Amino acid sequence: MTQDEMKKAVGQAALAYVQPNTIIGVGTGSTVNCFIDALASIKDQIKAAVSSSEASTTRLKALGIPVVDLNEVTEFDIYVDGADEINAQMEMIKGGGAALTREKIVAAVAKRFVCIADSTKQVNVLGKFPLPVEVIPLAREYVARELKKLGGNPIYRDGVITDNHCHILDVHGLAIHDAKALEQQINQIAGVVTVGLFAHRGADVALIGSADGIITISK
Ligand code: 5RP
Repeated sequence: MTQDEMKKAVGQAALAYVQPNTIIGVGTGSTVNCFIDALASIKDQIKAAVSSSEASTTRLKALGIPVVDLNEVTEFDIYVDGADEINAQMEMIKGGGAALTREKIVAAVAKRFVCIADSTKQVNVLGKFPLPVEVIPLAREYVARELKKLGGNPIYRDGVITDNHCHILDVHGLAIHDAKALEQQINQIAGVVTVGLFAHRGADVALIGSADGIITISK
């Protein structure tokens, strides 16, 4: 299977976790786009989607899937999203598509996080993919200096403004052995909106597309 075929396969496979007449949390990215396309085929069987980005909202609506505001929803069963890296503990780096803040919020409300990814995203140690950190624009250089103290090399993602009107720093050069501790540490820097480490709220199920088919990993 090519990488695109793997993305399509896991997008389709995630439908098995969709219960009839429920609200579905929807992430962001090229793999999630495959899930949204698959979801459209059963749109009459679901209540609505809660979206993690303007991009996903646009795609969902274009396919006739109703999107509801998260504030109108108390709880829902599953959140389906991709990852930039995922380790054996189901901890992830996310935010390659700059949607990390809303992704983290929607994931927090969902009962289960279903991660869909191809096998290139599986790693032993998180950090080869630069860690995205969303920051308040005013705080960007201060946060960058603090991230340097933690051993990283933050690079401003020039020209990118998030859905929340904030900036992104991509932190290179980290080898993350204690993802929960680093997530907490970065969260404490004033001006950080969200760090793209999903360790405290990792995935519960991972559907990994590989050359041999889909591998399902459950916590
Ligand atoms: C967006 C994300 C995506 O889930 C992550 O970047 C993976 O994207 P893709 O499926 O396109 O590889 O976190 O902010």
